[in-house]
Amino acid sequence: MPYSVPRLSDFSPAVLDEAARELLSALDQESAAVDSESDWKLYRDRWMARKNGALTQLNDLWLKAAPGQNKRDVGQRVNELKIKVEQTVEATLSRIQSGTSSSRLAAERLDITLPGIRRSIGAEHPVIKTMNEIIGVFRNLGYSVEEGPEIETDYYNFEALNFPPNHPARDTQDTLFIAGQDTKALRDRLLLRTHTSPVQIRTMQKMKPPVRVVCPGKVHRNDAPDATHSPIFHQVEGLAVDTSITFCDLKGTLDHAMKALFGSNVKTRFYPSFFPFTEPSADVQISCIFCDGKGTRDGAPCRNCKASGWIELLGCGMVDPNVYGFVDYDTAKVSGFAFGMGVERIAILKYGVDDIQLFFNGDVRFLQQFA
Ligand code: DAH
Repeated sequence: MPYSVPRLSDFSPAVLDEAARELLSALDQESAAVDSESDWKLYRDRWMARKNGALTQLNDLWLKAAPGQNKRDVGQRVNELKIKVEQTVEATLSRIQSGTSSSRLAAERLDITLPGIRRSIGAEHPVIKTMNEIIGVFRNLGYSVEEGPEIETDYYNFEALNFPPNHPARDTQDTLFIAGQDTKALRDRLLLRTHTSPVQIRTMQKMKPPVRVVCPGKVHRNDAPDATHSPIFHQVEGLAVDTSITFCDLKGTLDHAMKALFGSNVKTRFYPSFFPFTEPSADVQISCIFCDGKGTRDGAPCRNCKASGWIELLGCGMVDPNVYGFVDYDTAKVSGFAFGMGVERIAILKYGVDDIQLFFNGDVRFLQQFA
């Protein structure tokens, strides 16, 4: 209810005191709410307009209405109130003009006792985290880390790895080629590397045996994205070349690595396979970590291993002597093994992720779970 000057029936000092208190408190309250010049004009008019302003009403309802014997007292009080009203209206305008309205002050007040805004620290992406974990396992075995370019030549991605030009083995790697290079010799044409194996060649070109390296990195394939495929993914390659490395060393190394990554209960199985740059070649399978290799879970066939009890995880083999020919290693003196594993595939198994796309969509709610 906005304040209005009351009609008085009793002009005793006590009643006048109370009425004056009410008027002043309304004056102050309304003043505090004034926030702009247009507010202020309305405020001023409510109190001081000649026609029907509070001061005019004060004159009419209090002074003029007061009986003769109270006139003097009421007159004095009304004068005092007039001065108060004029001063307050004036002061309200100064406050507005000096830009210190109470609401603005409140909005700008700095409360140093409030807690600050905490920005969360980023965390390793689950793919990078898994990649580092894999690298860590091999670092502990004395391997060092080598990297190579993501844009590769046909020579490193294929030819030096014993994929001859036009050999059908090239079809196993759905390659993204860089356009407009038809005038170059085939071996110099650029492509997005389809695997990290070219880093084997680059490493052997710059180091003599003994070599023990892991090569992490991003690779590309011309694959349509779905729950298990992505045109971009990551691999960790391994290469060990020395004077008397055997398939036993390969088995022991990868068996140890799989146990380090998935737990010491995991078994490994080497299954004959083919890669142009290794001979013999094998696919490594681990016993299914979901059904403990039993092939059934809760009485139903295990979906993760298609009830076989085994999950295929990586490719490996003994380095094909033809490859040594490309890097000037003495085939008669050296032997070695190589392996390559998909990082997302390992992360999917370790963390129970059901869609590879989750790694690349950038949804913070997914990524936060690995922080
Ligand atoms: N480069 C192969 C691929 O991407 C994986 C691979 C298999 C790497 C056997 C190796 C190896 O080093 O020896 O399919």
